Amino acid sequence: MSEQKTISAFYEQDHDRLDELFKTFQKLKWSDFAMAKEAFKAFKFGLQRHIVWEEDVLFPLWEEKTGMSEGGPTFVMRAEHRQIGQQLEAIHGKVAEQNPDSDQEEQALLELLGTHNMKEERVLYPAIDQLTSEEERATGFQTMKNIPEERYKLCCGQH
Ligand SMILES: [Fe+2]
Ligand SMILES: [Fe+2]
Repeated sequence: MSEQKTISAFYEQDHDRLDELFKTFQKLKWSDFAMAKEAFKAFKFGLQRHIVWEEDVLFPLWEEKTGMSEGGPTFVMRAEHRQIGQQLEAIHGKVAEQNPDSDQEEQALLELLGTHNMKEERVLYPAIDQLTSEEERATGFQTMKNIPEERYKLCCGQH
């Protein structure tokens, strides 16, 4: 988590990392379910962490700088996170039953994430980079780092 990094670079990289984990899960689920499950777990924790980072640190930065919250873009992004979370849990339910038949739920999640991430990458992240100083971003990255794992590392109610 280098402090030189922009919000855009850092968060886009995390989107890409999560995309790769999900692809690994999809690729392996018919041949090696145990490996696919590991990839899904890493994806789930990673996505939950990404959402906590955005909602606890990044979006408040935007809201503070612009005075926009209710009805603004971060309000929409938070609502989309709830939908993303629902699809994530739908797939998780299948994975927990060792059931690879989750193509529909996967497609729904990918569609949600596709448009959501694109809006963040094209509009929100660059705007936050514009609005913040390097020091403010460094503080933000540090705050993200200090968030305890228990906030996002949950699976089947366990850590
Ligand atoms: Fe997001
Ligand atoms: Fe994001």
